[in-house]
Amino acid sequence: MSESTVTVFVCVSCRRRLGDCDDAFTLPGRDLAEALRSRLQQGGHADVVVTPVDCLAVCKRPCTVALSGADKWTYLIGDLDPQLHVEEIVATALSLGASGNGIVPWRERPASFRKGVIARVPPITAKDDRQIFIPESVES
Ligand code: FES
Repeated sequence: MSESTVTVFVCVSCRRRLGDCDDAFTLPGRDLAEALRSRLQQGGHADVVVTPVDCLAVCKRPCTVALSGADKWTYLIGDLDPQLHVEEIVATALSLGASGNGIVPWRERPASFRKGVIARVPPITAKDDRQIFIPESVES
């Protein structure tokens, strides 16, 4: 695994209710994890890996993913759909991997990222140098 490897953690435990019944639901994160793996194998993106996890603590916003890389900011994104957003998740992961600190420029953020972002968390190695971490969206 290289320094620029990005891990896409996919919650495979989120439930999406079917209708009004609490007992009828799907687990869309499982489909999303499989779709991402399939897409990455086709595209040869060895620097993006998919890791299923049980919960990212945003259970009401399935599907949820966390995008992480060494010495990079981590993004938590929800409201993703396995049929609609695979390409956008891959594009975001590649942008995060290509960036120096993990901040994905606003213009490179797909719609699902802009609408679904829940949190971003600095890398454990972050220094108190806020000039580096001010995102483009709040600069102007
Ligand atoms: S079960 Fe998916 S975030 Fe909690």
